[in-house]
Amino acid sequence: MVKVAPSLLAADFRVMGAEIERVAAAGADYLHFDVMDGAFVPEISFGSGILKWAAKGPLPVDAHLMIERPEAQVANFAKAGAKIITIHAEAGGHLHRTLSLIREHGCLAGLALNPATTPDCLRYLLPSLDLVLVMTVNPGYGGQKMIPECLDKIAEIRSMLDRAGSKAMLEVDGGANTVTAAEMMRHGADVIVAGSALFGADDAKGFIDSLRASWRQLHPEENA
Ligand code: DX5
Ligand code: ZN
Repeated sequence: MVKVAPSLLAADFRVMGAEIERVAAAGADYLHFDVMDGAFVPEISFGSGILKWAAKGPLPVDAHLMIERPEAQVANFAKAGAKIITIHAEAGGHLHRTLSLIREHGCLAGLALNPATTPDCLRYLLPSLDLVLVMTVNPGYGGQKMIPECLDKIAEIRSMLDRAGSKAMLEVDGGANTVTAAEMMRHGADVIVAGSALFGADDAKGFIDSLRASWRQLHPEENA
């Protein structure tokens, strides 16, 4: 079954705790926590100090680090309670070393690819990965439209993972609504990040249920 990860960036920060409870009650699987440093991406969002509080809620935290030098932050985010830590391929450094460091801290290790990045960089990293994150918008802001060219990349990575026998999750982030999320799933995604469409929906449960219904249509074998 598809997993749904609401992006906290689109929540009402005045009542952050209640917002997390609301999406958890609606059936979300993870809390997607977008960390921006004003250097790798133009905006600054929040850091490990806030994550520590978010992690006290009911959802495991999926930390998406859109930051330079992520290796310097892994310990902070792990200690703060992140369950998944995802770094960007384009952030550079020694990716294999940083991914290993994430696992050494007891977290699941993810690698994110910007829209312009090809999947080749995953080839020798597959055994080090618990998650691949395909960005379907340029990172830095919530509320953008999905870039449709990225759908083929999802399919390419799905076959790469399947061929290698990898059990890594394939998460997609950016511009997900009930229509685009169905396309993401059809191309092989099994974790959908949704910010503005989910937090902005009057009925968050209806939104998540609709994603699950699309998954069931695509995977009738799981209903048996
Ligand atoms: C973009 C972030 C996304 C974003 C998703 O830089 O990584 O997680 O919050 O927001 P929506 O779903 O509104 O595109
Ligand atoms: Zn994100």
